[in-house]
Amino acid sequence: MKDTVGMMGIGIERLSFYVPQHYVSLETLAERHGIDPAKFSRGIGQDLIAMPAHDEDIVTMAAEAARPVVEAVDGDDIDTILLATETGIDQSKAAGVYVHSLLGLNPNCRIVEMKHACYAATAAIQMACGYVARKPWAKVLVIATDVSRYDLDSSAEATQGCGAVAMIISADPKIMEIDTVSGCFTEDIMDFWRPNYRKTPLVDGKYSALKYMNAVANSWNDYQASGGREFTSFSKFCYHLPFTRLGVKAHRHLCSLNEAQAQESHFADGMTYNRKVGNCYTASLYLSLISTLETSEEDLTDKPIGLFSYGSGAVAEFFSGIVQPGYRDQLETRRHQSLLDDRVALSYDDYVKMWHAPDPQDGGEFTIPKSARGQYRLAGIDEHKRIYERI
Ligand code: CAA
Repeated sequence: MKDTVGMMGIGIERLSFYVPQHYVSLETLAERHGIDPAKFSRGIGQDLIAMPAHDEDIVTMAAEAARPVVEAVDGDDIDTILLATETGIDQSKAAGVYVHSLLGLNPNCRIVEMKHACYAATAAIQMACGYVARKPWAKVLVIATDVSRYDLDSSAEATQGCGAVAMIISADPKIMEIDTVSGCFTEDIMDFWRPNYRKTPLVDGKYSALKYMNAVANSWNDYQASGGREFTSFSKFCYHLPFTRLGVKAHRHLCSLNEAQAQESHFADGMTYNRKVGNCYTASLYLSLISTLETSEEDLTDKPIGLFSYGSGAVAEFFSGIVQPGYRDQLETRRHQSLLDDRVALSYDDYVKMWHAPDPQDGGEFTIPKSARGQYRLAGIDEHKRIYERI
């Protein structure tokens, strides 16, 4: 392959995620709607939907995810933050500026928000790698943070969720070196979109799943044409997982294109966390990567991992990376597993109350009671300004 010959290794130095404390079980949703729970557990491959408290949003989740990775490096070396989200909270101001302030980072820092549905974090990573190639001493904080929320009682309701993943991209990739080769595919389609005036997206679910499969094939073909690794060299694959069953189908599709037998061991570890969190748009693929690294019993040192990123509308990318020696020492496995385990189940009625997040639009003073489990919260909104606080 056209590898990083003559170039330094660049990739993921640290990696962390955050998920809020509340969830609704898909069994609760199935019971309420009179649906066989197996439709959700087997048919779409999901168990729980993570729900943000009213004082949590993409900013507070991003700050929670980023705090451990920032503490693990010299925060002053972070000179750029790229925050990817589908669930922006302002049409103008970048959400990363609030995160930068909550984390108390170096003021000599550039920050920008990136958008393309569920894909933008992958663009952020690729841009961060290019930037670090130019400035090898720099560290870029890439954050993917989203709340996936569909209309109540819609067929997409079961594929909600939320969460954030943060990573440091640097020339000291202690967890995964990212290959320079990648394969991209863009197609102008309307499978999932959200006009500025809507809180929830419009989605053509079945069409979106078909288009996802088409994008897997096209970005894989471009990855190969660009000199990518052979299919048989990969020991693990991670997929964007709006629901895990789609990843299973994507993997089978990729295997059939490569005349290979699909093996569960190639993708199942990457679905463990996602089943319990639900879709978190930009963060979903990277939650799958964390799940793979943290739950796989196999030592993945020096093993290539294939990653497929998809953002409706649609932009997709297949890329790859090599897991680094000592990667396990850099992971936050215990903290992540207790974040997932120490959560509270919501009744259906409490879920509906939590779904209706307050959205004051009159510019008056509005305070939000404390409920977030983390260190950062949205304390209120006053004169149309969001007020965040560190507890
Ligand atoms: N036991 C086991 N399986 C069952 C079952 C039962 N009792 N009842 C149904 N099933 C199976 C069905 O056979 C079906 O499987 P197949 O797809 O393999 O045929 C599966 O469960 C789902 O059933 P339906 O197709 O009837 O489900 P639905 O119409 O209620 O909607 C959905 C499913 C289309 C995924 C919907 O949840 C949706 O629109 N979600 C949002 C869109 C989405 O996530 N698209 C993904 C690609 S787009 C993207 O990736 C960007 C993004 O993040 C949004």
